[in-house]
Amino acid sequence: MKKNSPIGVFDSGVGGSSIWQEIHKLLPLEHTIYLADSKNAPYGNKTAEEITKLSIKNTEKLVQMGAKIIIVACNTATTNAIVTLRKNYDIPIIGIEPAIKPAALQSTTKSIGILATKGTLSSALFSKTTQEFTKDINVVEIIGEGLVPLIEVGNLDGPEMNSLLEKYTNPMIAANIDYLVLGCSHYPYLIPQLKAILPTNVKIIDSGEAVARQTKTVLQSLNMLREEITTPNLQFFTNAETETLKFLLKEYSEKISVEKKDF
Ligand code: DGL
Repeated sequence: MKKNSPIGVFDSGVGGSSIWQEIHKLLPLEHTIYLADSKNAPYGNKTAEEITKLSIKNTEKLVQMGAKIIIVACNTATTNAIVTLRKNYDIPIIGIEPAIKPAALQSTTKSIGILATKGTLSSALFSKTTQEFTKDINVVEIIGEGLVPLIEVGNLDGPEMNSLLEKYTNPMIAANIDYLVLGCSHYPYLIPQLKAILPTNVKIIDSGEAVARQTKTVLQSLNMLREEITTPNLQFFTNAETETLKFLLKEYSEKISVEKKDF
């Protein structure tokens, strides 16, 4: 693997592009390849075996395309499959998990909310983290059923989205949360809508920046950061339609390529 090889990123669909943005901000010279497995989204209601199979397929493709590191930009895939991925591949693999720990440590109301997929909330890895860090904290766990399919088609703030968000945040508001943890990489695209619904004292946190910092730390420690300073290739591939990715990443439209591809 060469320093000049790309960083490989995958998600069940378009959501991991929120993580890609953090990675690109911190490591603007790195080549990147992003795979959106939108054909198989959402992963959230699939079994751990299905999620693992799809995660292996995506990782395999990124390895074939020459990735020097894999970023699993999906909480559902990380919490269900990262142990297997790390066993099967000897390149560095970084995952994303809900930011339960910082929320629990900083909460003053001792009540936090977490919005994530069924697959994440029911995973062994998530239960372990929650048990470890939230002993004296009330955790309101809500499955964001239906949110990912709407985001996949670019419907971020229609009436259907807003009524789902109200329904999911109501029990959190009733429980006096002061932190809302976004446990799905699609959800950062809902932050403005959530802010409009939540009381102003509620802080919203996600793990995108932490994943970007970890990516930099790992590449630095392996002496694998890119050294060339020419413009990087920023490639996005989806196995469904390209519209939503282009829409979510419109501020990067001059720099990126978005293509449909079977994988
Ligand atoms: N972006 C995924 C996550 O972070 C997606 C969920 C899904 O496909 O259900 O969990």
